Amino acid sequence: FFHDRSKGMLKGKRIIVTAGATKEKIDPIRYFTNRSSGKMGFAIAGEAAKEGAEVLLVTNSSLPAPDGVTILPAETAEDMYHEVMKHAPEADIIIKSAAVADYKPKYIYGHKMKKQDGDLVIELERTKDILKDLGEKKEHQFLVGFAAETENIDQYAMKKLQQKNADIIVANNVTQEGAGFAGDTNIVTIYKRDGSKKELSLMSKRMVAKELLNEIVQSMKRDR
Ligand code: CTP
Ligand code: CA
Repeated sequence: FFHDRSKGMLKGKRIIVTAGATKEKIDPIRYFTNRSSGKMGFAIAGEAAKEGAEVLLVTNSSLPAPDGVTILPAETAEDMYHEVMKHAPEADIIIKSAAVADYKPKYIYGHKMKKQDGDLVIELERTKDILKDLGEKKEHQFLVGFAAETENIDQYAMKKLQQKNADIIVANNVTQEGAGFAGDTNIVTIYKRDGSKKELSLMSKRMVAKELLNEIVQSMKRDR
């Protein structure tokens, strides 16, 4: 049950992982969210802990905590932003697998919205881009982003790598059978800063997590 933190390829490393969807409140009983389950991020956190890392998992998902992982709850994009930023200065690696809402309701109603005749317009405003902010403030941290796409995967992934100053972007085509949100498998391509990419075949999210952590360790060695 107890992990031996003196062994493993990530021993001594501090890692922040974010996972799952955020929930953006509309009123006390309604919110916007998305289809991300958090399984990919939980798999990464669990495998990283097995490899000797100290792992903080920032999430709103209620999946069971993997052994050796500390869960920090964060419901909204803003909660996640604050939780990640608080711990980022001490982190060696930050892996942003969460599907963070890009928009949130501009006003949160204090009471339940009552229906009225006619259509309803809810004004949305942009949330802060956590990964982009981390990229701008980056000191020593190795930054990994995720991208769920439905088209032009290569192009969008390379663009996100540059725009967010990330070291790795893990992209998946969520329209593919066996990839994406709720399942236990994924099909991803790992894009790196040097322009190289590694296409992984259909495999369990646990295996994707292992492959990704291997790539991170190799890249960190090379950059040193
Ligand atoms: N991300 C973030 N904060 C946000 C939005 C996204 O940290 N407010 C992170 C995600 O966790 C992910 C990466 O940025 O690691 C890419 O997210 P994605 O939604 O694919 O890209 P966006 O930049 O939001 O662009 P778009 O949704 O338009 O494709
Ligand atoms: Ca987005």
